[in-house]
Amino acid sequence: MNPLPPVITSKKEMATWSESKRSLGLTVGFVPTMGALHQGHLALVELAARKSDIVVVSIFVNPAQFGPSEDYESYPRTLTTDLEALASHSVAVVFAPNAAEMYEDRLTTIHVSGITEPLCGASRPGHFDGVTTVVAKLLNIVRPHLAVFGEKDYQQLATVRKMVKDLDMDCLIVGAPTVREPDGLAMSSRNTYLSPLERAQAPVIRRALLQAQELAGTNTPEQVERMTRETITRGGGRVDYCSCLNALTLSAVTDFSSPVVLATTVFFGKTRLIDNIVINEKT
Ligand code: PAF
Repeated sequence: MNPLPPVITSKKEMATWSESKRSLGLTVGFVPTMGALHQGHLALVELAARKSDIVVVSIFVNPAQFGPSEDYESYPRTLTTDLEALASHSVAVVFAPNAAEMYEDRLTTIHVSGITEPLCGASRPGHFDGVTTVVAKLLNIVRPHLAVFGEKDYQQLATVRKMVKDLDMDCLIVGAPTVREPDGLAMSSRNTYLSPLERAQAPVIRRALLQAQELAGTNTPEQVERMTRETITRGGGRVDYCSCLNALTLSAVTDFSSPVVLATTVFFGKTRLIDNIVINEKT
């Protein structure tokens, strides 16, 4: 078995380590995670490894992005198995700080407006402020040349891209395609919460999104949203939102003449799953 990657828990030590690699002329790729790693995360690591000389993975369950009634306390924390999973990948170091190390005395929050307002921004108030604040801090500590984020979290990726552009942060943000189970369910750390029945029902999300792509040829965004909701509801899911938005700006659309993201969040029992599809994506 490959040795486990070394773990750094201190911000200062992480920054010094990165600086020493950068000064050797090595490019640093970064994959921020909250742990409970699955094949989707490992695909992000592989992409980062293809695009840079060395890869840093962070594992930090970020309290700032969970609402008071959300699953921060019960979120799976599996550091040992995560390190084992990373051992067979080219990971130079894992940054795993605790909450006190990350947030002691913090008075600053980063807020990206506009694109954070619909979708998850509307149903999880404050969530994206927590994400952008921690991602900005992680980028400042790890100082990567590039950072990889999954396209499953479409709004998160768009928000991080906007923050990096607006704040002139010197880091390339790379999106990675969603990795799916054989039945189409997007991989997520929260899939482990699903009961056997819910797990059997959940692939309806992907089926409904693929159906929506077909329907977009002859229907308005509003009609496509309605039919997608109906399909998911019939399949046992409780739809939180299901919206067609401009794929770049996340503003409202009335037709499919430009790329549109159809993004949805669906509850199966208490488990909240997200997924999306881009319609008319320019290749
Ligand atoms: O996508 C995630 O796992 C988290 O939102 C991130 C980017 C690691 C920030 O905590």
